[in-house]
Amino acid sequence: MRLKDKVAVVTGGAQGIGRCICETFEREGATVIAVDMNKAEFEAANIHGYALNVTDRAAIEAFTNEIVAKFGKIDVLVNNAGITRDALINKMTEDMWDAVINVNLKGVFNMTQSISPVMMENGQGSIINIASVVGEYGNVGQSNYAATKAGVIGMMKTWAKEFSRKGAAVRVNSVAPGYVNTDMMKTVPDKVLDPIREKTMLGRLGEPQEIANAVLFLASDESSFVTGHNLSVNGGLRL
Ligand SMILES: NC(=O)c1ccc[n+]([C@@H]2O[C@H](COP(=O)([O-])OP(=O)(O)OC[C@H]3O[C@@H](n4cnc5c(N)ncnc54)[C@H](O)[C@@H]3O)[C@@H](O)[C@H]2O)c1
Repeated sequence: MRLKDKVAVVTGGAQGIGRCICETFEREGATVIAVDMNKAEFEAANIHGYALNVTDRAAIEAFTNEIVAKFGKIDVLVNNAGITRDALINKMTEDMWDAVINVNLKGVFNMTQSISPVMMENGQGSIINIASVVGEYGNVGQSNYAATKAGVIGMMKTWAKEFSRKGAAVRVNSVAPGYVNTDMMKTVPDKVLDPIREKTMLGRLGEPQEIANAVLFLASDESSFVTGHNLSVNGGLRL
């Protein structure tokens, strides 16, 4: 049990990578709060679905207070909720830009600003931002998404510095997945995915469990000397 007695909040926990992270954490002994725009239903007794939009700052404040009142602490925050609105820059509307920035970048800021004081008070914690290979290397048609994913790596490094001051040990890291088999990929045509498979050393897309395993390592005490690190999990897509 690598997360025994830990309380973990996972955003975007209703489906895809986030859901897999919730289930993995639960198997490892954590009490998990799966935050999503649409409340997620889970079979497991130790996963609690919570309807919350990461862009709603007032609701987040109420959420954090409620979780602390109920569970006494928050040990792990996984900032996983994310969206895409893809277009080449000359076709990208302001609405497309704003929507992605609001969820993927400001949402991560909102959640971390609300929950990090709880961790700082406890003197320990682990925050993991879900970035992307697109944030590391860019991608055609994803100016907005690339900006947010590079941004969550930048915020991660900033928070690793801020949250280790005054003797605190709140570690902050990010995981940058390559292309992973989830609903998000359903909008991407095979003519785009096939060359990606070819360029990936391991010759395939990733599975949500392979991302969740990396997140589990960073959430657990096994990574107790790891902070400020971006862990690429992309099958060797980029070397
Ligand atoms: N799938 C991939 O190939 C891939 C690759 C790299 C990075 N990522 C990143 O991994 C994360 C998860 O991706 P996924 O493929 O599982 O996506 P997904 O679309 O399957 O799931 C995303 C979840 O986030 C929730 N969500 C969206 N906006 C929200 C909001 N404002 N507030 C609360 N919840 C919200 C959705 O309801 C959904 O349940 C995202 O940050 C994504 O950018 C995914």
